[in-house]
Amino acid sequence: MGNVKCDLLQVLASTHPNFPTWERIHLETSTMNKSITQSLWTIKSKILKLCLFLFLATMAFMGFHYHSINMNLVPSTVHPRTVESLYPYLIEEPSKCRGDPPFLLLLIPSMPQDVLIRDVLRKTWANESLVPGISIKRIFLLGRSFVNDTEVSVEQESSTFHDIIQQDFLDTYRNLTIKTLMGIEWVSRLCPRASYVMKVDGDMFFNPWFLVRQILQPEKPLKLEFFTGLVVRGAPFRNKDSKWYISYEMYSKNLYPYYCSGTGYVFSGDLSPRIYKEAKGMTIFPFEDVFLGICLERMGVHLSKSGGEWFIGERVEYNRCRFTKLVTVHHYSPDELLKLWPDFLKALGDCNG
Ligand SMILES: *[C@@H]1O[C@H](CO)[C@@H](O)[C@H](O)[C@H]1NC(C)=O
Ligand SMILES: *[C@@H]1O[C@H](CO)[C@@H](O)[C@H](O)[C@H]1NC(C)=O
Ligand SMILES: *[C@@H]1O[C@H](CO)[C@@H](O)[C@H](O)[C@H]1NC(C)=O
Repeated sequence: MGNVKCDLLQVLASTHPNFPTWERIHLETSTMNKSITQSLWTIKSKILKLCLFLFLATMAFMGFHYHSINMNLVPSTVHPRTVESLYPYLIEEPSKCRGDPPFLLLLIPSMPQDVLIRDVLRKTWANESLVPGISIKRIFLLGRSFVNDTEVSVEQESSTFHDIIQQDFLDTYRNLTIKTLMGIEWVSRLCPRASYVMKVDGDMFFNPWFLVRQILQPEKPLKLEFFTGLVVRGAPFRNKDSKWYISYEMYSKNLYPYYCSGTGYVFSGDLSPRIYKEAKGMTIFPFEDVFLGICLERMGVHLSKSGGEWFIGERVEYNRCRFTKLVTVHHYSPDELLKLWPDFLKALGDCNG
């Protein structure tokens, strides 16, 4: 959701995401019953239950026959999509993690046509051999583009760099959760021994040295059930014209749970299969960072806030020494990255004396 979350209401009250489930409706109905002793009311309640049952049965029947995805969020036609099966892989890169498991795996969402951005990232912060003695691997996460020409060039690029995975879903903003889940599914299955996984957007400044040395600390025992980044909390947008619009059907609470901004977050490898397993039973929610927040809350995993000041969600002008002491800054264009990178490499030596 980008840095817009900084404008969102920040509150401390703790609530739970509560998709209206049939269990809940039944529960409320039966609690109601207890307080109402009149038999007339009981009959009415029974009729209501029957109606609910019929409605539920109809929905279940419809759901059973509903195989296509509808993420348009038109309330009347929406059927909650669960992550039962992912899309087929177009590019899977199954041997990327063979051999010694990486200490850090970078998952970078990217669109098929963003060839130049990937090129710049490979030469700057996504370079796999930046941190001496530390094994880092990068994977760009792609969906399918609208144009066939792009697919040809993606295949060529992939056979050169072997750092792309791609599934057969349309690469759009509202499919970003599917993209993140592709990455998490891939890690769980094909890179399960990665110590840490960092998801970082392609329009960021990212400092892997600080992340590795100051936060992940390879000399210490591996952290387990660890998840950190820019921890935020916000309210769902109810204005239909908003990029972040979400219907009450999709999410009924007034607040999202705490979550880490999707601009950049890092978690321990042990969480990957657990997150994926949890996500499988859930309705896909279009904002991947909020979706992971909901997942983690359901799993009872607490976000670590220790690194909060090191993940900057808004644009901060380049400052060579300050940038050596943080992990991410939103928003840096490929041109800017290319320009500042040589100076930043020098600053790593100059500023930490
Ligand atoms: C990646 O970093 C290493 C170590 O600093 C450097 O030797 C190499 O040239 C870099 N690769 C690219 C593509 O920039
Ligand atoms: C892409 O190729 C497929 C089959 O290879 C074709 O059905 C489709 O119409 C093409 N799309 C475009 C936008 O050219
Ligand atoms: C997500 O991808 C699927 C599969 O390609 C596509 O049918 C759907 O329209 C996409 N959803 C959005 C909101 O773009």
